[in-house]
Amino acid sequence: MSLRDHVITRFVEHHGESPSALVRAPGRVNLIGEHTDYNEGFVLPMAIDRECWIALRPRNDTRVRIHSLLHDESMEFDVTAPEPGSGWAEYPKGVAWAMTEDGHALNGWEGIVGSSVPLGAGLSSSASFTLASARALAGVSDISWDPVAMAKLCQRAENHWLGVHCGVMDPLICSVGREGQAVLIDCRNLDQRPVPLPPDTGIVILDTGTRRGLVGSAYNERRNQCEQAARALGVESLRDISDEDLEKGSIHLEAVPLRRARHVVGENTRTLEAARAMQAGDAERLGSCMNASHQSLRDDFEVSSHELDVMVECARGLSGCLGARMTGAGFGGCALALVEAAAIPAFCEEVAQRYTQASNFQPQVHVCRARAGVEWFPDAVSSR
Ligand code: GLA
Repeated sequence: MSLRDHVITRFVEHHGESPSALVRAPGRVNLIGEHTDYNEGFVLPMAIDRECWIALRPRNDTRVRIHSLLHDESMEFDVTAPEPGSGWAEYPKGVAWAMTEDGHALNGWEGIVGSSVPLGAGLSSSASFTLASARALAGVSDISWDPVAMAKLCQRAENHWLGVHCGVMDPLICSVGREGQAVLIDCRNLDQRPVPLPPDTGIVILDTGTRRGLVGSAYNERRNQCEQAARALGVESLRDISDEDLEKGSIHLEAVPLRRARHVVGENTRTLEAARAMQAGDAERLGSCMNASHQSLRDDFEVSSHELDVMVECARGLSGCLGARMTGAGFGGCALALVEAAAIPAFCEEVAQRYTQASNFQPQVHVCRARAGVEWFPDAVSSR
């Protein structure tokens, strides 16, 4: 049974009638452009067919009641006065808080939430849940849906309510994703350009099975180092620095901020190059950009991990693999590979075997399709 049907079935069991609406919000994988979003640079993510689904009905009051299939747990709060707590309920609470702050009058809803986005793997399980929560609240409260404004609102909810200092990439791609395409995003003005995957290729996500608690503090440290580098170079953000500028300005930088800046500046160039390669259908060039991105994240930005490096090496050695790199914040979680379509089944089997032999972890391998961003289906039963 699909997850969509599963949340509907569970809704009927819980509430004794069909849901009046459904929400679908995708997770995401970033093809290239890592740790560039908070430097106002370029990113090239795609929304994926691992998704959060909510089946719901509006309530006559301002309460939200959600049952999570993943946690087998229910929670309830008042959208006009959410109180900070802990756990998965903080995502919808944070969204209600941010929407109220923006002056929206909110209605309550109740329903069932399920998700096929692996938790904590760097595939934006949290952004997909915040977007889904925002879409549900907007839907039951008759608030018109502005995909970019709502993505920014969800980022604010994560930053302020949950205390996670993430950039705009994750909520934005979960909101504006395109069926069958990745999206080049300029994180300075949030302009978006859909770009197709090269013909006869596919994206394979390679979950190392490792999760690192360190992500939060190391992520903030990288952000600070980038800001420090920008200040020393006399610019507002590293986006304003070209390769040549960096060479000229490098005397003003200490070794660590210089390495961080070198990654960000180079990654912006590689991301634009990757988008051009995709437009031209040049899979090999895209693969090379991905390989160079990994090297830079490993050596200059220092956010890879032993398992991510092992996974990337295992993938690159296999026939049909055009490029591979870590994806997301780093330190654990997932790598991704660009693979010739015909080679994907054998690739998946062999990469899992090789990685298991080379590490002590059991990998998860996901072949992914690019999906559209968050969707609201007011007529639940007829939506497909
Ligand atoms: C996490 C953050 C994003 C981005 C990536 C690194 O996923 O949530 O905003 O900074 O790390 O590219």
